[in-house]
Amino acid sequence: DLPARVRIHEVGARDGLQNEKTVVPVEVKAEFIHRLAEAGLTTIEATSFVHPKWVPQLADAEQLFPMVQDIKGVALPVLVPNERGLDRALALGARRIAVFASATESFAKANLNRTVDEALAMFAPVVAKARADKVHVRGYLSMCFGDPWEGAVPVAQVVRVAKALMDLGCDELSLGDTIGVATPGHVQTLLASLNEAGVPTSSIGVHFHDTYGQALSNTLAALQHGVTTVDASAGGLGGCPYAKSATGNLATEDLVWMLEGLGIDTGVDLGRLTATSVWLASELGRPSPSRTVRALSHQ
Ligand code: HMG
Ligand code: MG
Repeated sequence: DLPARVRIHEVGARDGLQNEKTVVPVEVKAEFIHRLAEAGLTTIEATSFVHPKWVPQLADAEQLFPMVQDIKGVALPVLVPNERGLDRALALGARRIAVFASATESFAKANLNRTVDEALAMFAPVVAKARADKVHVRGYLSMCFGDPWEGAVPVAQVVRVAKALMDLGCDELSLGDTIGVATPGHVQTLLASLNEAGVPTSSIGVHFHDTYGQALSNTLAALQHGVTTVDASAGGLGGCPYAKSATGNLATEDLVWMLEGLGIDTGVDLGRLTATSVWLASELGRPSPSRTVRALSHQ
């Protein structure tokens, strides 16, 4: 059975724009987020409070967040890696944060300059403080299926770190296929193993990148397992500057097209969303990689 409704966690403004070669002007970012909200998205990841030298594309977080935080009816999660990041986010009034762990040592080192367990130790006070302030915490887990340095990632290794993130007190877990190598059977095996380890499907979201064109199939496999939170990025923007071979996320338009066809409610206006991605593509100077955007805009 498929769910009646899916909550889309839109990551284009963060996962998408963090990977652009050039820094997108803050006014364009703010307009992008406003347009995403007008298209009906209700969870829009806005930016990251990471070290500005590590991700210069999002170094304008302090300017951007106040430009979007009053949008009605929209949750605006932000990434924070450590207490410094949390303090920056809380100072601006952020009410939802995300920490981001790795299932592999190679990516923990590349992305956070820490071992897996050192990164978890870095997150512990962040999650505790956020929860004490009633701030919602998402725990991302990257490299859940494969890793560019280590190859296939054993399910047990992913389950261990996922459990550790939930034990810290995360409200929700997002399973990242950072480099887009997952396939549907692997997705269902991982979800079943997480359930066996005591992580309920209701607290799990999926985060697919589309490198091998499997993101939609993987999403369908997750929906069949009962998942109702799906990450996607408008126009299929995205990647990760610290993971070679990471390409764009599942495009939100491709996801909405499939869900509409299945009769699953998302609240998103596909026409307005496509127009937004076409507009952003013109700002970025290259066409959207989303097949649905191209089909609907006759590009
Ligand atoms: P580090 O170099 O080990 O930092 O980086 P440190 O803890 O040693 O601190 C060094 C200096 O940085 C200190 O300043 C800190 O105050 C400052 P000093 O005392 O020397 O003057 N500093 C900060 N400044 C501003 N904001 C901060 C901050 N933290 C420290 N938050 C660190 C460690 C975690 C900071 C760094 O590795 C980092 O920022 N990494 C972020 C990388 C990132 O954003 N990657 C992309 C997001 S993850 C992703 O895309 C995957 C996902 O989409 C899911 C998927 O697809 O799998 C989520
Ligand atoms: Mg990602």
